[in-house]
Amino acid sequence: DSIEKGGYPHFMLKEIFEQPRSILDSMRGRLELGASHLNMGGIRAYEQKFVNAQRIIIVACGTSWHAGLVAEYLIEDLARIPVEVEYASEFRYRNPIITERDIVIAISQSGETADTLAAIELAKSKGATIFGVCNVVGSSIARATDAGAYTHAGPEIGVASTKAFTAQVTVLTLLAMIMGQKRGTLTDTKLRELMVELDTIPAKVTKALELDAQIREIAEEFKDATNFLYLGRGYNFPVALEGALKLKEISYIHAEGYPAAEMKHGPIALIDENMPMVVIATRDSSYEKVVSNIQEVKARKGRIIAVVSEGDKVIPAMAEFVIEVPHTSEVLMPLVSVVPLQLLSYHIAVLRGCNVDQPRNLAKSVTVE
Ligand code: AGP
Repeated sequence: DSIEKGGYPHFMLKEIFEQPRSILDSMRGRLELGASHLNMGGIRAYEQKFVNAQRIIIVACGTSWHAGLVAEYLIEDLARIPVEVEYASEFRYRNPIITERDIVIAISQSGETADTLAAIELAKSKGATIFGVCNVVGSSIARATDAGAYTHAGPEIGVASTKAFTAQVTVLTLLAMIMGQKRGTLTDTKLRELMVELDTIPAKVTKALELDAQIREIAEEFKDATNFLYLGRGYNFPVALEGALKLKEISYIHAEGYPAAEMKHGPIALIDENMPMVVIATRDSSYEKVVSNIQEVKARKGRIIAVVSEGDKVIPAMAEFVIEVPHTSEVLMPLVSVVPLQLLSYHIAVLRGCNVDQPRNLAKSVTVE
């Protein structure tokens, strides 16, 4: 057991620390800096369909659904195709409108999630093209799809998904870039810039992992909290949802992720001196707005843990705890900003004595409806 964990006390921690490697593996053969385009074998036969797609529907559950939400931002931003992100369980039961011109992207780590599989079968019966993003080779979902791309994250044992999420986001980023290039919505210069930046992500994730000791101290401070709010905007909104889900599943602390600007429409009423707020406030196009959201929280005495870009001079004066992550392009930020949130939930769960790798009531793959 300890050999399998590679010296780490839990699979989850091992898998968090594997991310520089697993992200690299998910880019291998697809991103070559010497080339002028990206490669993804799985889409080759369906290239025209992707280029002409009028709509993309993403179906997934849980963490994979959060990766799908990141993909919505990516695909709309870079390839200008409208995207709908659906919980597979809702999609399949609500008589959705699906046509032969739709592409459905199904995202699943295990490739065995019953609701996602059923959503695929439904979309298939309506003639849509199904593209899978799976981690487990030969899994039911991988076999049920028309084409797809494996995430190559390697086996994920911890019930809380970590490296599978960043691998999914990496693959979906590549897919959005490919579609953007083919559709002419992403200039060669911008594509090049993103390729170069994507290539630096494993090293940036390695740097983010160096925050482990600092995050453990923050976890000590908040381990007895009963509620948490996670806030983010734009690309960091799905990261807020993912951070909250991680905390809920393994530490059993109630946590909610919210788009920061929605706070004033309800959740702001929850804020008092006992409410920890994790705000993801990296330097991007919504930075100034997130800073004002932080001010609103501070005025109500909420306790702020802020994830910021390295060198931020403004937020440290406002937040009680500041976690500085390496800076990257806005569209790639989820790959870096999610890392401290994974570590925070891990350390809080360990300090609370929870079974991190096998939390109560949860299974690694949900093969029942
Ligand atoms: C993630 O931490 C969860 N354990 C869960 O939400 C999971 O992402 C979900 O069940 C989907 O699983 P899949 O990716 O294997 O389809």
